[in-house]
Amino acid sequence: MNNDLPHTALVTGASRGLGLALAHRLASVGWNLIIDARGESALEAARAGLSEQTRVTAIPGDVTDEKHRRKLAGAAHEAGGLDALVNNASVLGPSPQPSLLDYPLDVLEEVYLTNTISPLAVIQAVRDELNPGARIINITSDAAVEPYEGWGGYGSSKAALEQLSNILAAENPDLRVYHVDPGDMRTQMHQEAFPDEDISDRPLPEESVPGLMRLLNGDLPSGRYQARNLIEPDSSPKELRELRVALTIDDFDGAAAFYRDELGLTVVKEWSESQGRGLILEAGPATIELVDHSQAAYIDEIEAGERISGPVRLAFEVPDIGAAADALQNRGAKALGGSVETPWGDLNRRLRTAEGLQITLYQSQDSNADGKEMA
Ligand SMILES: NC(=O)c1ccc[n+]([C@@H]2O[C@H](COP(=O)([O-])OP(=O)(O)OC[C@H]3O[C@@H](n4cnc5c(N)ncnc54)[C@H](OP(=O)(O)O)[C@@H]3O)[C@@H](O)[C@H]2O)c1
Repeated sequence: MNNDLPHTALVTGASRGLGLALAHRLASVGWNLIIDARGESALEAARAGLSEQTRVTAIPGDVTDEKHRRKLAGAAHEAGGLDALVNNASVLGPSPQPSLLDYPLDVLEEVYLTNTISPLAVIQAVRDELNPGARIINITSDAAVEPYEGWGGYGSSKAALEQLSNILAAENPDLRVYHVDPGDMRTQMHQEAFPDEDISDRPLPEESVPGLMRLLNGDLPSGRYQARNLIEPDSSPKELRELRVALTIDDFDGAAAFYRDELGLTVVKEWSESQGRGLILEAGPATIELVDHSQAAYIDEIEAGERISGPVRLAFEVPDIGAAADALQNRGAKALGGSVETPWGDLNRRLRTAEGLQITLYQSQDSNADGKEMA
């Protein structure tokens, strides 16, 4: 996909439920949209809401109708091609759902036509409009693989869509074809499937959207996915930008000199206001080391010869441990032991600051097998 140009997605069945939730997310990140649904007024309401954020072409119609599919392809052409096609429009069939032995075959044909044949028909209609790297997502269901009683019509239509997606991917290795189970969602279709149940405990369709976005933005291989098992990288804790440890100290200037002048940390921000003084120091790459009491006691014993640290100990890697320790002691730190060679090959030295904080200085000899330093 060319990331410099706005992307365009065709999302079928986007007047409500999952299709609408996905359309809103795509609009919020600048994708242009082509959407459809049979019900005109709900589709128009969806278009009006989405067009506050992006360019939207809404085409009312039925995916089972060839003329309608040609209109979708025409809109895709006008938009400069598609970067994503999401075959989401689908029907449940009768509600309550009949068992297979009683399933009216003319209705089964309608279900297959909408849920299985039309997704392929839409793909065929827009095949020449797919931009290089375009993604195709066919929305399926857990009912495609689980033998739930009463789900024979809908479930088998989704099972066929899954195998159709598999083979389409095998026949077109240059395409990314995903068939995705979105999980149970609190939507009109779900309420139709469980007409007498309170479905307010089911997740909203928005919760299945990040997984779909990951497929659209990432480069995962073609295949079957469960949307809620796909965590989009930018919604995970990897969003964390910085670790900041805030220390409250009695001797502000002494501590500033200690960390800034002796340890050589760079000042990022400094303020002195009526409400108080503060200093933010760049401390290079930061890590949090979690240890149990027994590991803490082991390190204390190596560095200080006794169990001495509390819940927090700061550790700084320095290039010359002797020089750094001398400088910190000149700034009021108390040595709690000499430099010791640790079992993992570093030189470590324990000090206590004037504020009572335990500090480990370490001079790395070598990384351990994991490439991590133990301090
Ligand atoms: N909800 C769940 O728990 C669940 C679980 C597993 C899988 N899924 C799958 O997730 C997808 C979205 O389901 P949902 O729960 O969001 O359903 P929904 O609330 O019923 O929404 C379906 C959307 O598709 C449109 N649509 C239906 N038939 C169409 C047709 N023939 N042509 C064009 N548009 C059509 C509907 O509008 P009109 O009716 O106005 O056409 C509506 O916009 C479906 O593929 C469904 O099978 C849902």
